[in-house]
Amino acid sequence: MIKGVIFDLDGVITDTAELHYSAWKALCEEMGWHFDRQLNESLRGISRLDSIRTIMHHNKASLDPDRIAELAERKNKIYVESLGGMTEEDFLPGARELLTHLRNEGFGVALGSSSKNAVKVLQQLNAIRYFDFIGDGNTVAKSKPAPDIFLHAAAQLKLPPNRCLVFEDAEKGIDAAKAGGFHCVGIGPEERVGHADIRFDSMKEATLFEVKSHFKDLF
Ligand code: BG6
Ligand code: MG
Repeated sequence: MIKGVIFDLDGVITDTAELHYSAWKALCEEMGWHFDRQLNESLRGISRLDSIRTIMHHNKASLDPDRIAELAERKNKIYVESLGGMTEEDFLPGARELLTHLRNEGFGVALGSSSKNAVKVLQQLNAIRYFDFIGDGNTVAKSKPAPDIFLHAAAQLKLPPNRCLVFEDAEKGIDAAKAGGFHCVGIGPEERVGHADIRFDSMKEATLFEVKSHFKDLF
């Protein structure tokens, strides 16, 4: 029986992709690197350092590790500043309703995000109260597609992976959930999350009723 739900943050609870895009774009312009929305898409779900490495690889750039860390920090400053304008209005449609239903029905609820800014984002949304455990980019060493963040969150909920459902919008996030033995819900297009157990175009369609109907033997 499913007793726990683990949520990714960016692209599931709220849409930060545009803010990440603007921050990376600003850094890339300073560096004379190419950056576009397609490249931004490929950063969905992966850590900040993996992101800058991906951008550098794309631009055939090479720098020493200290300089890379410095640039990643610069991007983060721009990103964090842009989070200041985020409010309770910035939940993705359907996300807050789903969290409320899950809490009302007594499910364990955890966050399993790659972002080191997850607590800040949840504070802006006034969403801390929905979570029994918040796992973020500081929680485990190996980030998605490794299953570690989800395994850690499940352990905190005191549940084995097969009693948890993971909500993810990233291809590598679904890979991570599957590698950990979790049931998973993909949010987004077929080409990105078609390998999830069930997929919805957006969180608006991913109601508890719909999810339960799909996994009916597990609820
Ligand atoms: C993920 C995002 O949730 O967090 C990625 O999908 C992002 O795009 C990653 O790179 C790391 O975020 P942060 O906030 O630690 O730079
Ligand atoms: Mg995401």
